[in-house]
Amino acid sequence: MSHRIAFICSFVQYRVWLGVEEICCYITNQIGLFLKNISFMSVHSQVKKVTTHVLHEMKLKGEKIAMLTAYDYSMAGILDKANIDVILVGDSASNVMAGNETTLPITMDEMIYHTKSVVRAVKRALVVADLPFGSYQGNSKEALNNAIRMMKETGGHAVKMEGGSEILDSINRILSAGIPVMGHLGLTPQSIHKFGTYVVRAKEEEEAEKLLEDAHKLEEAGCFAIVLEKIPAKLAARVTRELKIPIIGIGAGHEVDGQVLVLHDILGITQAFSPRFLRRYHNLFAEIQGAVTNYIHDVKSVDFPNEREQY
Ligand code: KIV
Repeated sequence: MSHRIAFICSFVQYRVWLGVEEICCYITNQIGLFLKNISFMSVHSQVKKVTTHVLHEMKLKGEKIAMLTAYDYSMAGILDKANIDVILVGDSASNVMAGNETTLPITMDEMIYHTKSVVRAVKRALVVADLPFGSYQGNSKEALNNAIRMMKETGGHAVKMEGGSEILDSINRILSAGIPVMGHLGLTPQSIHKFGTYVVRAKEEEEAEKLLEDAHKLEEAGCFAIVLEKIPAKLAARVTRELKIPIIGIGAGHEVDGQVLVLHDILGITQAFSPRFLRRYHNLFAEIQGAVTNYIHDVKSVDFPNEREQY
């Protein structure tokens, strides 16, 4: 009798276990199908042209926004072919392209030159151009004229400006002309001489509160997105939760709507700059140096050009 009971018990256990396994399999399949549908329906893969509206939709759907800098036609073309969402013609061109120590020296004319070159290569991405230091802080009329110049002469789609309440007049005036503005808070490199250092911003409560207030003001004014640079991840996550517009982080953790990095940093072309938030995907410096060394060798040894490489 006890044998029978034991047999029945283990049979019931076995059926229950099989049932649980079947349910698990079913759920796994359903999740798989769901994810497949999500990627099929993803804003990113369907979009022919990224607009500020598309970025807003991506935030609503929880789809991350990928943004990188570019300053020239060739690189911008590669990024666009790879389906990057946003290309930032950053004033980091001042460091990366011109070798300046800060972003302050770059001029309107230089930013226009870089943005024009990028726009010529781009079919899909949204192109955002940095307004350089000194082009919008003085007075709002001058700011508007410079933003109009940037849009008219380059064909770019939006401008980015560093700062909060202190530049709101300029932002309002530019927005009222129908020019989309991306804000930039936290570590704003155009103010480096005020900060005196590139350390993490808004760690103290007072600065964090001011940043949060500024973010709300930028949204209320009508900015379509905000870059948050080098601030505590928790603060960036709070701003992202509280605001409806997309928040793009650089050194601001992963609980934001997207990420931006400098192209030359992720490719390992720049070597000296190595902050904690940077992930390098290549060591192009070494690769280019290797190729150039080989070329020099071939020229000097008269290996290049050979019979097939001449007319
Ligand atoms: O100029 C730039 O490249 C930038 C990014 C680092 C956000 O402003």
